[in-house]
Amino acid sequence: MVKLYHLTMSHDIEETERLITAKHEHKDSKCCGFWCQLILSLLGIIFLFTGIIMADLWPQIFNNIMKNKLELENNTLTYKYWKQIPAPLHMSVYLFNWTNPEATLQTGGLPILQHLGSYVFKENLTKVNVTFNNDTITYMQLKSWEFDQSLSNGSLADRVTTINIVVNILDEKLQAINKHWIFVLTNYYLKMSNINNPYVTRTASELIFNGYEDPLLDIAIKLKSFFPIDIPLKKVGWLYDSKNSTSSDGLINMYTGKNNIENVGLVHSVNYNTKLNVFKKDCSYSNVSAGNLWPEHTAMQPNMLIYIPGIFSAITMLNNNYTFINGIKGVEFVAGSDVFNNTCYCPTSGCIFISFPHFYLADESYQQSVIGMNPNRTLHEFKMVLENDYSIPLRVDARIQFNV
Ligand SMILES: *[C@@H]1O[C@H](CO)[C@@H](O)[C@H](O)[C@H]1NC(C)=O
Ligand SMILES: *[C@@H]1O[C@H](CO)[C@@H](O)[C@H](O)[C@H]1NC(C)=O
Ligand SMILES: *[C@@H]1O[C@H](CO)[C@@H](O)[C@H](O)[C@H]1NC(C)=O
Ligand SMILES: *[C@@H]1O[C@H](CO)[C@@H](O)[C@H](O)[C@H]1NC(C)=O
Ligand SMILES: *[C@@H]1O[C@H](CO)[C@@H](O)[C@H](O)[C@H]1NC(C)=O
Ligand SMILES: *[C@@H]1O[C@H](CO)[C@@H](O)[C@H](O)[C@H]1NC(C)=O
Ligand SMILES: *[C@@H]1O[C@H](CO)[C@@H](O)[C@H](O)[C@H]1NC(C)=O
Ligand SMILES: *[C@@H]1O[C@H](CO)[C@@H](O)[C@H](O)[C@H]1NC(C)=O
Ligand SMILES: *[C@@H]1O[C@H](CO)[C@@H](O)[C@H](O)[C@H]1NC(C)=O
Ligand SMILES: *[C@@H]1O[C@H](CO)[C@@H](O)[C@H](O)[C@H]1NC(C)=O
Ligand SMILES: *[C@@H]1O[C@H](CO)[C@@H](O)[C@H](O)[C@H]1NC(C)=O
Repeated sequence: MVKLYHLTMSHDIEETERLITAKHEHKDSKCCGFWCQLILSLLGIIFLFTGIIMADLWPQIFNNIMKNKLELENNTLTYKYWKQIPAPLHMSVYLFNWTNPEATLQTGGLPILQHLGSYVFKENLTKVNVTFNNDTITYMQLKSWEFDQSLSNGSLADRVTTINIVVNILDEKLQAINKHWIFVLTNYYLKMSNINNPYVTRTASELIFNGYEDPLLDIAIKLKSFFPIDIPLKKVGWLYDSKNSTSSDGLINMYTGKNNIENVGLVHSVNYNTKLNVFKKDCSYSNVSAGNLWPEHTAMQPNMLIYIPGIFSAITMLNNNYTFINGIKGVEFVAGSDVFNNTCYCPTSGCIFISFPHFYLADESYQQSVIGMNPNRTLHEFKMVLENDYSIPLRVDARIQFNV
Protein backbone atom coordinates (compact mmCIF):
# COMPACT_ATOMS: atom_id res chain seq x y z
CA MET A 1 0.00 0.00 0.00
CA VAL A 2 1.27 3.39 -0.89
CA LYS A 3 1.08 5.73 2.01
CA LEU A 4 -0.49 9.04 1.17
CA TYR A 5 1.07 11.81 3.05
CA HIS A 6 -0.05 14.50 5.41
CA LEU A 7 -3.08 16.36 4.42
CA THR A 8 -5.89 18.34 5.78
CA MET A 9 -8.95 20.06 4.56
CA SER A 10 -8.46 22.96 6.81
CA HIS A 11 -9.47 26.26 5.42
CA ASP A 12 -11.06 27.49 8.54
CA ILE A 13 -9.21 29.66 10.92
CA GLU A 14 -11.02 28.52 14.04
CA GLU A 15 -10.61 24.93 13.26
CA THR A 16 -7.02 25.70 12.48
CA GLU A 17 -6.47 27.28 15.83
CA ARG A 18 -8.00 24.41 17.65
CA LEU A 19 -5.74 22.07 15.80
CA ILE A 20 -2.56 24.05 16.10
CA THR A 21 -2.49 23.47 19.81
CA ALA A 22 -2.35 19.75 19.37
CA LYS A 23 1.00 19.32 17.72
CA HIS A 24 2.56 22.70 17.58
CA GLU A 25 5.98 21.55 18.59
CA HIS A 26 6.20 19.15 15.68
CA LYS A 27 5.52 21.80 13.12
CA ASP A 28 8.91 22.16 11.57
CA SER A 29 10.09 18.62 11.75
CA LYS A 30 6.79 17.46 10.31
CA CYS A 31 7.21 19.87 7.47
CA CYS A 32 10.60 18.56 6.73
CA GLY A 33 9.27 15.06 6.96
CA PHE A 34 6.67 16.03 4.47
CA TRP A 35 9.16 17.43 2.05
CA CYS A 36 11.57 14.60 2.43
CA GLN A 37 9.00 11.89 2.15
CA LEU A 38 6.81 13.28 -0.55
CA ILE A 39 6.45 10.51 -3.05
CA LEU A 40 2.94 11.02 -4.16
CA SER A 41 1.52 14.43 -4.42
CA LEU A 42 -2.16 14.53 -5.03
CA LEU A 43 -3.89 17.75 -5.63
CA GLY A 44 -6.85 18.94 -3.78
CA ILE A 45 -8.19 22.10 -5.12
CA ILE A 46 -7.45 25.43 -6.73
CA PHE A 47 -9.03 28.64 -5.60
CA LEU A 48 -8.98 31.74 -7.74
CA PHE A 49 -10.30 34.98 -6.37
CA THR A 50 -10.81 37.59 -8.99
CA GLY A 51 -12.27 41.02 -8.98
CA ILE A 52 -11.93 44.35 -10.61
CA ILE A 53 -12.24 46.19 -7.42
CA MET A 54 -12.31 49.92 -7.70
CA ALA A 55 -11.56 50.79 -11.29
CA ASP A 56 -15.15 51.55 -12.18
CA LEU A 57 -15.58 53.82 -9.21
CA TRP A 58 -12.42 55.74 -9.79
CA PRO A 59 -13.93 59.21 -10.43
CA GLN A 60 -15.85 59.08 -7.15
CA ILE A 61 -12.89 57.78 -5.25
CA PHE A 62 -10.61 60.36 -6.71
CA ASN A 63 -12.80 63.20 -5.43
CA ASN A 64 -12.95 61.54 -2.08
CA ILE A 65 -9.18 61.31 -1.90
CA MET A 66 -8.90 65.00 -2.58
CA LYS A 67 -11.23 65.73 0.31
CA ASN A 68 -10.38 63.19 2.96
CA LYS A 69 -7.05 61.64 2.19
CA LEU A 70 -7.20 57.92 2.70
CA GLU A 71 -7.71 57.60 6.38
CA LEU A 72 -10.42 55.14 7.28
CA GLU A 73 -13.08 57.04 9.17
CA ASN A 74 -16.69 56.29 9.90
CA ASN A 75 -19.26 57.79 7.52
CA THR A 76 -16.86 58.42 4.66
CA LEU A 77 -16.92 57.03 1.16
CA THR A 78 -13.71 55.13 1.85
CA TYR A 79 -15.42 53.50 4.80
CA LYS A 80 -18.50 52.63 2.80
CA TYR A 81 -16.47 50.96 0.05
CA TRP A 82 -14.19 49.31 2.54
CA LYS A 83 -17.12 47.84 4.45
CA GLN A 84 -18.81 46.36 1.43
CA ILE A 85 -16.75 46.19 -1.74
CA PRO A 86 -19.07 47.61 -4.37
CA ALA A 87 -17.79 45.42 -7.15
CA PRO A 88 -18.41 41.82 -8.10
CA LEU A 89 -15.95 39.35 -6.67
CA HIS A 90 -15.71 35.86 -7.98
CA MET A 91 -14.27 32.73 -6.57
CA SER A 92 -13.51 30.09 -9.15
CA VAL A 93 -12.79 26.63 -7.91
CA TYR A 94 -11.06 23.89 -9.84
CA LEU A 95 -10.99 20.31 -8.68
CA PHE A 96 -8.72 17.53 -9.76
CA ASN A 97 -10.42 14.29 -10.60
CA TRP A 98 -8.17 11.36 -9.83
CA THR A 99 -9.01 9.11 -12.75
CA ASN A 100 -6.82 6.10 -12.01
CA PRO A 101 -6.85 5.51 -8.25
CA GLU A 102 -6.70 1.74 -8.47
CA ALA A 103 -3.80 1.76 -10.87
CA THR A 104 -1.93 4.29 -8.76
CA LEU A 105 -2.37 2.36 -5.55
CA GLN A 106 -1.75 -1.08 -6.93
CA THR A 107 1.04 -0.56 -9.38
CA GLY A 108 2.41 2.72 -8.15
CA GLY A 109 1.80 4.46 -11.45
CA LEU A 110 1.58 8.22 -11.57
CA PRO A 111 -1.82 9.63 -10.66
CA ILE A 112 -3.64 10.99 -13.67
CA LEU A 113 -5.53 14.11 -12.76
CA GLN A 114 -8.35 15.57 -14.76
CA HIS A 115 -8.78 19.28 -14.29
CA LEU A 116 -12.45 20.04 -13.63
CA GLY A 117 -14.13 23.38 -13.53
CA SER A 118 -14.26 26.13 -13.07
CA TYR A 119 -17.08 26.18 -10.60
CA VAL A 120 -17.72 29.88 -10.22
CA PHE A 121 -19.19 31.44 -7.12
CA LYS A 122 -20.14 35.05 -6.65
CA GLU A 123 -18.65 36.18 -3.43
CA ASN A 124 -20.27 38.65 -1.10
CA LEU A 125 -17.74 40.02 1.32
CA THR A 126 -18.95 42.29 4.09
CA LYS A 127 -17.06 43.60 7.09
CA VAL A 128 -18.98 43.00 10.28
CA ASN A 129 -18.57 43.57 14.01
CA VAL A 130 -16.70 46.74 13.21
CA THR A 131 -15.29 48.72 16.12
CA PHE A 132 -13.14 51.80 15.93
CA ASN A 133 -10.40 51.97 18.54
CA ASN A 134 -7.83 54.70 19.02
CA ASP A 135 -6.02 54.38 15.72
CA THR A 136 -7.10 50.94 14.68
CA ILE A 137 -10.27 49.26 13.59
CA THR A 138 -11.37 45.76 14.53
CA TYR A 139 -13.55 43.71 12.24
CA MET A 140 -14.44 40.33 10.86
CA GLN A 141 -15.29 39.35 7.31
CA LEU A 142 -18.63 37.78 6.58
CA LYS A 143 -18.50 35.80 3.40
CA SER A 144 -21.18 34.16 1.43
CA TRP A 145 -21.07 32.54 -1.97
CA GLU A 146 -23.62 31.88 -4.62
CA PHE A 147 -22.99 29.41 -7.39
CA ASP A 148 -23.15 30.95 -10.85
CA GLN A 149 -23.94 28.27 -13.39
CA SER A 150 -23.66 30.60 -16.37
CA LEU A 151 -20.02 31.38 -15.66
CA SER A 152 -19.12 27.83 -14.72
CA ASN A 153 -17.85 24.94 -16.77
CA GLY A 154 -19.48 21.97 -15.14
CA SER A 155 -22.15 21.41 -12.58
CA LEU A 156 -22.01 21.00 -8.83
CA ALA A 157 -23.36 17.50 -9.37
CA ASP A 158 -20.17 16.41 -11.17
CA ARG A 159 -18.69 13.34 -9.56
CA VAL A 160 -15.08 13.75 -8.57
CA THR A 161 -12.66 11.17 -7.25
CA THR A 162 -10.15 12.48 -4.78
CA ILE A 163 -7.92 11.38 -1.98
CA ASN A 164 -9.63 10.42 1.25
CA ILE A 165 -8.61 13.12 3.63
CA VAL A 166 -10.08 11.45 6.68
CA VAL A 167 -8.00 8.31 6.49
CA ASN A 168 -4.86 10.38 6.47
CA ILE A 169 -5.82 12.74 9.24
CA LEU A 170 -6.94 9.98 11.50
CA ASP A 171 -3.82 8.03 10.80
CA GLU A 172 -1.71 10.98 11.88
CA LYS A 173 -3.83 11.70 14.90
CA LEU A 174 -3.56 8.16 16.11
CA GLN A 175 0.18 8.15 15.68
CA ALA A 176 0.34 11.35 17.64
CA ILE A 177 -1.37 9.75 20.61
CA ASN A 178 1.70 7.66 20.85
CA LYS A 179 0.06 4.62 22.31
CA HIS A 180 0.98 1.85 20.04
CA TRP A 181 -1.84 -0.49 20.90
CA ILE A 182 -4.52 2.06 20.07
CA PHE A 183 -2.96 2.62 16.73
CA VAL A 184 -2.68 -1.04 15.94
CA LEU A 185 -6.17 -1.87 17.15
CA THR A 186 -7.77 0.96 15.26
CA ASN A 187 -5.95 0.16 12.07
CA TYR A 188 -6.95 -3.44 12.42
CA TYR A 189 -10.54 -2.48 12.97
CA LEU A 190 -10.55 -0.17 9.98
CA LYS A 191 -9.08 -2.81 7.74
CA MET A 192 -11.59 -5.37 8.92
CA SER A 193 -14.54 -3.10 8.39
CA ASN A 194 -13.15 -2.06 5.06
CA ILE A 195 -13.81 1.62 5.41
CA ASN A 196 -10.33 2.98 5.13
CA ASN A 197 -10.50 3.47 1.42
CA PRO A 198 -7.72 5.83 0.37
CA TYR A 199 -9.92 7.59 -2.15
CA VAL A 200 -13.49 8.80 -2.28
CA THR A 201 -15.87 9.79 -5.05
CA ARG A 202 -18.14 12.68 -4.21
CA THR A 203 -19.96 15.49 -5.96
CA ALA A 204 -18.25 18.80 -6.53
CA SER A 205 -20.81 20.39 -4.26
CA GLU A 206 -19.96 18.05 -1.40
CA LEU A 207 -16.24 18.49 -1.82
CA ILE A 208 -16.41 22.26 -1.88
CA PHE A 209 -19.11 23.55 0.42
CA ASN A 210 -21.70 21.10 1.55
CA GLY A 211 -19.36 18.53 2.97
CA TYR A 212 -20.03 14.84 3.16
CA GLU A 213 -20.31 12.41 5.99
CA ASP A 214 -17.64 9.86 6.33
CA PRO A 215 -18.04 6.62 8.27
CA LEU A 216 -14.50 6.95 9.47
CA LEU A 217 -15.12 10.45 10.73
CA ASP A 218 -18.15 9.19 12.60
CA ILE A 219 -16.06 6.57 14.29
CA ALA A 220 -13.44 9.13 15.13
CA ILE A 221 -16.06 11.34 16.70
CA LYS A 222 -17.22 8.42 18.80
CA LEU A 223 -13.67 7.57 19.81
CA LYS A 224 -13.25 11.11 20.97
CA SER A 225 -14.55 10.33 24.42
CA PHE A 226 -11.87 7.69 24.85
CA PHE A 227 -8.83 9.21 23.25
CA PRO A 228 -7.69 12.79 22.96
CA ILE A 229 -8.35 13.05 19.25
CA ASP A 230 -9.35 16.47 18.17
CA ILE A 231 -11.88 16.22 15.38
CA PRO A 232 -12.62 19.62 13.98
CA LEU A 233 -15.72 19.06 11.92
CA LYS A 234 -18.66 16.77 11.51
CA LYS A 235 -18.37 16.71 7.76
CA VAL A 236 -15.58 16.81 5.26
CA GLY A 237 -15.35 19.56 2.66
CA TRP A 238 -12.83 22.21 1.71
CA LEU A 239 -15.04 25.12 2.65
CA TYR A 240 -17.52 23.25 4.80
CA ASP A 241 -18.67 25.53 7.60
CA SER A 242 -17.34 28.72 6.07
CA LYS A 243 -20.32 29.72 3.99
CA ASN A 244 -22.09 32.74 5.44
CA SER A 245 -19.68 32.75 8.30
CA THR A 246 -17.08 35.01 9.81
CA SER A 247 -14.93 32.22 11.08
CA SER A 248 -12.52 31.78 8.24
CA ASP A 249 -10.61 35.04 8.38
CA GLY A 250 -10.49 35.71 12.09
CA LEU A 251 -10.77 38.92 14.00
CA ILE A 252 -8.61 41.46 12.25
CA ASN A 253 -7.23 44.57 13.88
CA MET A 254 -6.01 47.04 11.30
CA TYR A 255 -4.58 50.57 11.41
CA THR A 256 -6.92 53.28 10.17
CA GLY A 257 -4.17 55.79 9.51
CA LYS A 258 -5.55 58.18 12.12
CA ASN A 259 -2.30 58.96 13.88
CA ASN A 260 -0.07 58.00 11.03
CA ILE A 261 -1.44 57.88 7.51
CA GLU A 262 1.52 55.72 6.49
CA ASN A 263 -0.08 52.90 8.47
CA VAL A 264 -3.46 52.82 6.85
CA GLY A 265 -4.61 49.32 5.98
CA LEU A 266 -1.75 47.56 7.73
CA VAL A 267 -2.49 44.69 10.06
CA HIS A 268 -1.89 45.22 13.73
CA SER A 269 -3.04 41.81 14.88
CA VAL A 270 -5.21 38.87 13.92
CA ASN A 271 -7.15 37.11 16.65
CA TYR A 272 -5.30 39.29 19.19
CA ASN A 273 -2.03 37.88 17.97
CA THR A 274 0.56 40.33 16.69
CA LYS A 275 2.81 37.61 15.35
CA LEU A 276 2.30 35.37 12.39
CA ASN A 277 3.00 32.05 14.01
CA VAL A 278 2.98 29.94 10.92
CA PHE A 279 5.69 31.42 8.82
CA LYS A 280 9.32 30.85 9.50
CA LYS A 281 10.62 33.91 7.73
CA ASP A 282 9.55 37.30 9.08
CA CYS A 283 7.14 36.37 11.78
CA SER A 284 5.68 39.78 12.44
CA TYR A 285 2.86 41.70 10.90
CA SER A 286 4.99 44.80 10.33
CA ASN A 287 4.09 46.34 7.01
CA VAL A 288 1.67 43.57 6.16
CA SER A 289 -1.44 44.91 4.46
CA ALA A 290 -4.79 43.45 5.42
CA GLY A 291 -5.57 43.44 1.73
CA ASN A 292 -8.06 46.22 1.28
CA LEU A 293 -6.36 49.59 1.84
CA TRP A 294 -2.78 50.54 1.23
CA PRO A 295 -0.60 53.48 2.28
CA GLU A 296 -0.40 55.93 -0.59
CA HIS A 297 3.25 55.30 -1.46
CA THR A 298 2.89 51.51 -1.73
CA ALA A 299 2.68 51.50 -5.51
CA MET A 300 6.10 53.16 -5.61
CA GLN A 301 7.72 50.49 -3.48
CA PRO A 302 9.69 47.61 -4.91
CA ASN A 303 7.52 45.18 -2.98
CA MET A 304 4.63 44.89 -0.57
CA LEU A 305 3.38 42.36 1.92
CA ILE A 306 -0.16 41.12 1.96
CA TYR A 307 -2.03 38.98 4.46
CA ILE A 308 -3.80 35.94 3.01
CA PRO A 309 -6.39 34.91 5.59
CA GLY A 310 -7.10 31.48 4.16
CA ILE A 311 -3.55 30.34 4.75
CA PHE A 312 -2.90 32.42 7.84
CA SER A 313 0.14 33.91 6.25
CA ALA A 314 1.56 36.94 4.57
CA ILE A 315 3.27 36.85 1.23
CA THR A 316 5.58 39.26 -0.51
CA MET A 317 4.57 40.63 -3.85
CA LEU A 318 7.02 42.31 -6.18
CA ASN A 319 6.47 45.46 -8.15
CA ASN A 320 6.44 44.20 -11.70
CA ASN A 321 5.35 46.74 -14.27
CA TYR A 322 2.85 49.38 -15.17
CA THR A 323 -0.45 48.35 -16.57
CA PHE A 324 -3.75 50.00 -17.43
CA ILE A 325 -7.14 48.93 -16.10
CA ASN A 326 -10.12 50.71 -17.63
CA GLY A 327 -7.75 53.46 -18.66
CA ILE A 328 -6.36 53.98 -15.17
CA LYS A 329 -2.65 53.64 -14.69
CA GLY A 330 -1.80 50.96 -12.19
CA VAL A 331 1.21 49.10 -10.91
CA GLU A 332 1.16 45.35 -11.04
CA PHE A 333 2.47 43.38 -8.08
CA VAL A 334 3.23 39.73 -8.59
CA ALA A 335 3.96 36.98 -6.12
CA GLY A 336 7.40 35.63 -6.86
CA SER A 337 8.61 32.11 -7.27
CA ASP A 338 9.79 31.77 -3.70
CA VAL A 339 6.54 32.82 -2.03
CA PHE A 340 5.21 29.34 -1.51
CA ASN A 341 8.62 27.83 -1.63
CA ASN A 342 8.95 25.75 1.49
CA THR A 343 5.59 26.98 2.61
CA CYS A 344 4.38 23.95 4.27
CA TYR A 345 1.41 24.97 6.26
CA CYS A 346 0.82 22.67 9.18
CA PRO A 347 -2.30 23.65 11.02
CA THR A 348 -3.23 20.18 12.09
CA SER A 349 -1.53 16.90 12.57
CA GLY A 350 -1.05 16.89 8.85
CA CYS A 351 0.55 19.36 6.58
CA ILE A 352 -0.88 21.06 3.61
CA PHE A 353 1.35 22.10 0.80
CA ILE A 354 0.46 25.36 -0.84
CA SER A 355 1.55 26.25 -4.33
CA PHE A 356 0.45 28.23 -7.30
CA PRO A 357 -2.06 26.41 -9.48
CA HIS A 358 -0.60 23.55 -11.49
CA PHE A 359 2.67 23.98 -9.59
CA TYR A 360 3.38 27.09 -11.59
CA LEU A 361 6.90 28.27 -10.61
CA ALA A 362 7.45 25.27 -8.40
CA ASP A 363 10.19 22.76 -8.84
CA GLU A 364 9.58 20.62 -11.89
CA SER A 365 9.61 17.47 -9.85
CA TYR A 366 6.19 18.44 -8.48
CA GLN A 367 4.70 18.89 -11.89
CA GLN A 368 6.13 15.55 -12.84
CA SER A 369 4.84 13.69 -9.80
CA VAL A 370 1.38 13.63 -11.35
CA ILE A 371 0.00 13.65 -14.86
CA GLY A 372 -2.21 16.52 -15.87
CA MET A 373 -0.34 19.68 -14.86
CA ASN A 374 -0.26 22.60 -17.28
CA PRO A 375 1.35 25.58 -15.59
CA ASN A 376 0.70 28.80 -17.46
CA ARG A 377 1.73 32.28 -16.38
CA THR A 378 -1.37 34.00 -17.75
CA LEU A 379 -3.69 31.65 -15.95
CA HIS A 380 -1.80 30.84 -12.77
CA GLU A 381 0.12 33.91 -11.69
CA PHE A 382 -0.86 35.47 -8.37
CA LYS A 383 -1.11 39.20 -8.91
CA MET A 384 -2.71 42.43 -7.97
CA VAL A 385 -2.85 45.91 -9.46
CA LEU A 386 -2.69 49.07 -7.34
CA GLU A 387 -3.48 52.45 -8.79
CA ASN A 388 -0.28 54.34 -9.54
CA ASP A 389 -0.64 57.51 -7.42
CA TYR A 390 -2.83 56.48 -4.48
CA SER A 391 -2.39 52.73 -4.25
CA ILE A 392 -6.09 51.97 -4.51
CA PRO A 393 -6.62 48.32 -5.46
CA LEU A 394 -7.84 48.05 -9.04
CA ARG A 395 -7.65 44.38 -9.73
CA VAL A 396 -7.00 41.19 -7.81
CA ASP A 397 -6.10 37.76 -9.14
CA ALA A 398 -5.36 35.62 -6.13
CA ARG A 399 -4.60 32.08 -7.22
CA ILE A 400 -3.74 29.33 -4.81
CA GLN A 401 -3.63 25.60 -4.97
CA PHE A 402 -3.92 23.42 -1.89
CA ASN A 403 -2.22 20.10 -2.24
CA VAL A 404 -3.01 17.11 -0.15
C1 LIG B 1 -13.92 11.59 -12.75
O1 LIG B 1 -13.20 10.42 -12.99
C2 LIG B 1 -13.98 9.25 -12.93
C3 LIG B 1 -13.05 8.08 -13.14
O2 LIG B 1 -12.18 7.99 -12.05
C4 LIG B 1 -15.05 9.29 -13.98
O3 LIG B 1 -15.88 8.16 -13.87
C5 LIG B 1 -15.90 10.53 -13.81
O4 LIG B 1 -16.83 10.64 -14.86
C6 LIG B 1 -14.99 11.77 -13.80
N1 LIG B 1 -15.81 12.92 -13.51
C7 LIG B 1 -16.07 13.87 -14.40
C8 LIG B 1 -16.92 14.99 -13.92
O5 LIG B 1 -15.62 13.89 -15.51
C1 LIG C 1 -24.05 40.85 1.02
O1 LIG C 1 -24.20 40.51 2.39
C2 LIG C 1 -24.62 41.59 3.20
C3 LIG C 1 -24.61 41.12 4.64
O2 LIG C 1 -25.17 39.87 4.79
C4 LIG C 1 -26.00 42.05 2.74
O3 LIG C 1 -26.40 43.14 3.52
C5 LIG C 1 -25.91 42.46 1.27
O4 LIG C 1 -27.19 42.81 0.80
C6 LIG C 1 -25.36 41.35 0.43
N1 LIG C 1 -25.14 41.83 -0.92
C7 LIG C 1 -25.47 41.15 -1.99
C8 LIG C 1 -25.17 41.76 -3.30
O5 LIG C 1 -26.02 40.05 -1.90
C1 LIG D 1 -20.37 39.72 16.06
O1 LIG D 1 -21.60 40.43 16.20
C2 LIG D 1 -22.74 39.60 16.40
C3 LIG D 1 -23.94 40.48 16.49
O2 LIG D 1 -23.82 41.59 15.67
C4 LIG D 1 -22.56 38.81 17.66
O3 LIG D 1 -23.66 37.92 17.79
C5 LIG D 1 -21.29 38.01 17.57
O4 LIG D 1 -21.07 37.34 18.79
C6 LIG D 1 -20.11 38.90 17.30
N1 LIG D 1 -18.96 38.07 17.15
C7 LIG D 1 -17.85 38.29 17.83
C8 LIG D 1 -16.76 37.31 17.62
O5 LIG D 1 -17.70 39.25 18.55
C1 LIG E 1 -20.63 55.14 12.50
O1 LIG E 1 -21.45 56.24 12.80
C2 LIG E 1 -22.83 55.92 12.90
C3 LIG E 1 -23.59 57.22 13.17
O2 LIG E 1 -23.22 58.16 12.24
C4 LIG E 1 -23.04 54.98 14.05
O3 LIG E 1 -24.39 54.59 14.14
C5 LIG E 1 -22.19 53.73 13.81
O4 LIG E 1 -22.29 52.86 14.92
C6 LIG E 1 -20.75 54.11 13.60
N1 LIG E 1 -20.01 52.91 13.24
C7 LIG E 1 -18.97 52.48 13.91
C8 LIG E 1 -18.32 51.24 13.42
O5 LIG E 1 -18.51 53.06 14.88
C1 LIG F 1 -3.77 56.91 20.61
O1 LIG F 1 -2.56 56.34 20.15
C2 LIG F 1 -1.48 57.25 20.09
C3 LIG F 1 -0.29 56.52 19.53
O2 LIG F 1 -0.65 55.62 18.55
C4 LIG F 1 -1.18 57.80 21.46
O3 LIG F 1 -0.15 58.79 21.35
C5 LIG F 1 -2.44 58.45 22.04
O4 LIG F 1 -2.20 58.85 23.36
C6 LIG F 1 -3.58 57.44 22.02
N1 LIG F 1 -4.80 58.10 22.46
C7 LIG F 1 -5.62 57.57 23.35
C8 LIG F 1 -6.82 58.33 23.69
O5 LIG F 1 -5.40 56.46 23.83
C1 LIG G 1 -14.74 22.34 -19.42
O1 LIG G 1 -14.44 21.17 -18.68
C2 LIG G 1 -14.08 20.05 -19.48
C3 LIG G 1 -13.80 18.91 -18.55
O2 LIG G 1 -14.86 18.66 -17.70
C4 LIG G 1 -12.86 20.36 -20.32
O3 LIG G 1 -12.58 19.29 -21.16
C5 LIG G 1 -13.10 21.61 -21.13
O4 LIG G 1 -11.91 21.97 -21.81
C6 LIG G 1 -13.53 22.73 -20.25
N1 LIG G 1 -13.84 23.90 -21.03
C7 LIG G 1 -13.30 25.08 -20.80
C8 LIG G 1 -13.76 26.19 -21.67
O5 LIG G 1 -12.49 25.24 -19.90
C1 LIG H 1 -26.54 34.23 6.61
O1 LIG H 1 -26.79 34.16 8.01
C2 LIG H 1 -27.72 35.14 8.46
C3 LIG H 1 -27.79 35.08 9.97
O2 LIG H 1 -27.23 33.91 10.46
C4 LIG H 1 -29.07 34.87 7.81
O3 LIG H 1 -29.97 35.86 8.23
C5 LIG H 1 -28.90 34.94 6.29
O4 LIG H 1 -30.10 34.62 5.66
C6 LIG H 1 -27.82 33.99 5.81
N1 LIG H 1 -27.59 34.22 4.41
C7 LIG H 1 -27.42 33.23 3.55
C8 LIG H 1 -27.17 33.62 2.13
O5 LIG H 1 -27.47 32.07 3.89
C1 LIG I 1 8.05 49.12 7.04
O1 LIG I 1 8.00 50.08 6.01
C2 LIG I 1 8.65 51.30 6.35
C3 LIG I 1 8.41 52.29 5.25
O2 LIG I 1 8.48 51.68 4.01
C4 LIG I 1 10.15 51.02 6.58
O3 LIG I 1 10.79 52.19 6.96
C5 LIG I 1 10.27 49.98 7.70
O4 LIG I 1 11.62 49.64 7.84
C6 LIG I 1 9.48 48.74 7.37
N1 LIG I 1 9.52 47.85 8.52
C7 LIG I 1 9.79 46.57 8.40
C8 LIG I 1 9.81 45.77 9.65
O5 LIG I 1 9.99 46.04 7.33
C1 LIG J 1 5.87 46.72 -19.19
O1 LIG J 1 4.62 46.87 -19.85
C2 LIG J 1 4.76 47.50 -21.13
C3 LIG J 1 3.37 47.76 -21.65
O2 LIG J 1 2.43 46.90 -21.13
C4 LIG J 1 5.55 46.58 -22.04
O3 LIG J 1 5.70 47.17 -23.29
C5 LIG J 1 6.93 46.35 -21.42
O4 LIG J 1 7.65 45.42 -22.18
C6 LIG J 1 6.77 45.82 -20.00
N1 LIG J 1 8.09 45.75 -19.38
C7 LIG J 1 8.54 44.70 -18.78
C8 LIG J 1 9.89 44.78 -18.16
O5 LIG J 1 7.88 43.66 -18.71
C1 LIG K 1 12.69 26.99 -4.08
O1 LIG K 1 13.55 27.98 -4.63
C2 LIG K 1 14.76 27.48 -5.14
C3 LIG K 1 15.58 28.64 -5.62
O2 LIG K 1 14.79 29.74 -5.92
C4 LIG K 1 14.51 26.49 -6.26
O3 LIG K 1 15.70 25.95 -6.72
C5 LIG K 1 13.62 25.37 -5.72
O4 LIG K 1 13.29 24.50 -6.76
C6 LIG K 1 12.34 25.96 -5.15
N1 LIG K 1 11.54 24.90 -4.57
C7 LIG K 1 10.27 24.74 -4.90
C8 LIG K 1 9.54 23.69 -4.18
O5 LIG K 1 9.72 25.42 -5.73
C1 LIG L 1 -1.73 30.15 -21.41
O1 LIG L 1 -3.10 30.47 -21.33
C2 LIG L 1 -3.48 31.47 -22.25
C3 LIG L 1 -4.93 31.85 -21.95
O2 LIG L 1 -5.75 30.73 -21.94
C4 LIG L 1 -3.29 30.96 -23.68
O3 LIG L 1 -3.66 31.97 -24.59
C5 LIG L 1 -1.83 30.59 -23.86
O4 LIG L 1 -1.65 30.00 -25.12
C6 LIG L 1 -1.38 29.62 -22.78
N1 LIG L 1 0.06 29.43 -22.89
C7 LIG L 1 0.61 28.25 -22.94
C8 LIG L 1 2.09 28.22 -23.02
O5 LIG L 1 -0.06 27.23 -22.92
